[in-house]
Amino acid sequence: MWLFTGRHDYENVLVAELARMGAAAHTLAPGLVAADLGDDVPARWDPVYALQVLPMACEVRGESIRQLAEAVATAVVGRWPAVPGRFAVHVLVPGQLKGQPNPLMRRRADLLEAALPKALFAQLPHKAERQAPIDKLVQVLLMDADVAYASVAPLQPVGGWMCWPSRLPAGLANPPDEPQAPSSAFRKLREALACLGEAPGPGSRAVDLGASPGGWTHVLRQLGAAVTAVDRAALAPRLMADRTIDYVSGDAFVWRPTQPVDWIVSDIIAYPQRVPELLHMWCGEHLAERLVIQMKFKGWPDFDLIDAAVQVCRDAGYFARAKHFFNDKHEITLMAGALAATMAAEAG
Ligand SMILES: C[S@@+](CC[C@H](N)C(=O)[O-])C[C@H]1O[C@@H](n2cnc3c(N)ncnc32)[C@H](O)[C@@H]1O
Repeated sequence: MWLFTGRHDYENVLVAELARMGAAAHTLAPGLVAADLGDDVPARWDPVYALQVLPMACEVRGESIRQLAEAVATAVVGRWPAVPGRFAVHVLVPGQLKGQPNPLMRRRADLLEAALPKALFAQLPHKAERQAPIDKLVQVLLMDADVAYASVAPLQPVGGWMCWPSRLPAGLANPPDEPQAPSSAFRKLREALACLGEAPGPGSRAVDLGASPGGWTHVLRQLGAAVTAVDRAALAPRLMADRTIDYVSGDAFVWRPTQPVDWIVSDIIAYPQRVPELLHMWCGEHLAERLVIQMKFKGWPDFDLIDAAVQVCRDAGYFARAKHFFNDKHEITLMAGALAATMAAEAG
């Protein structure tokens, strides 16, 4: 059985997306969907509405932490991926999938997470080099005090720094509060940047389309980027007074930079059909190295349109991936990056 986690209340969308991809799936618990995919490759099953995947998860039991750790180790060593690096361990609990800050069994999960490396090393034939990169992930989802699902899988590259399974526990970034941000929308950008594993830094140039009142512009400024913020409406007064922010009042679909920029982010409220139009310009003309673009739906998402938007980026020589993040509602986040920039960053 494969387990997929996603934003609770959207399990039916994830089940439908998996069906569209060819997998029969059903909801197991809030934020948790199960599918029978056998011995397949994780990167082929990267649904937009899934935040994390536990491939080939099997049920394990144990009364004490030590017994649980040994049962997990026994379950996963048999299918240990044939890749040479180190492993990471994430122990998850169901309440975490609903965004609860202090979920039930968290303490038990932490104890299990601490006990697992020793239990795994006791059963593994080889120890990985200390310096080797982390290339596989052991995940345990504690369903009850003595019952859990256990999975091990290689971390497969899916664009830029991103891997599937996600490097983030349960695929969640849990951005902390930012009281100075003028809107809660800042969380969506924080999640996208955590997933991408990259962010604008000092010296980089970023464009924020549909920026008002300025939650995303606030994040970009916090990171040190020089920001051009485009919207028909003004930003919050503190941001309007910030001399490092270039505010442009106008139509974000028409505005274009005089020179290519490092980042373009967009949270414009518009028909989702306009996103491919935006991407044709920004990716097609290589006007930005990295993109984070919201695509908003009135209700049910249009998966064909999401695929089309991703394809526009790929055709233009960008990696691209779409995710429905924890803070996304009737919208998804498209992340893309110029492949040449990725190669330059890797070489550096
Ligand atoms: C969801 S809000 C953006 C919130 C913002 N990201 C934040 O963090 O505070 C969407 C914005 O898109 C702007 N917008 C919609 N259509 C636009 C267009 N064609 N040109 C410029 N701005 C537009 C609206 O004025 C609105 O401020």
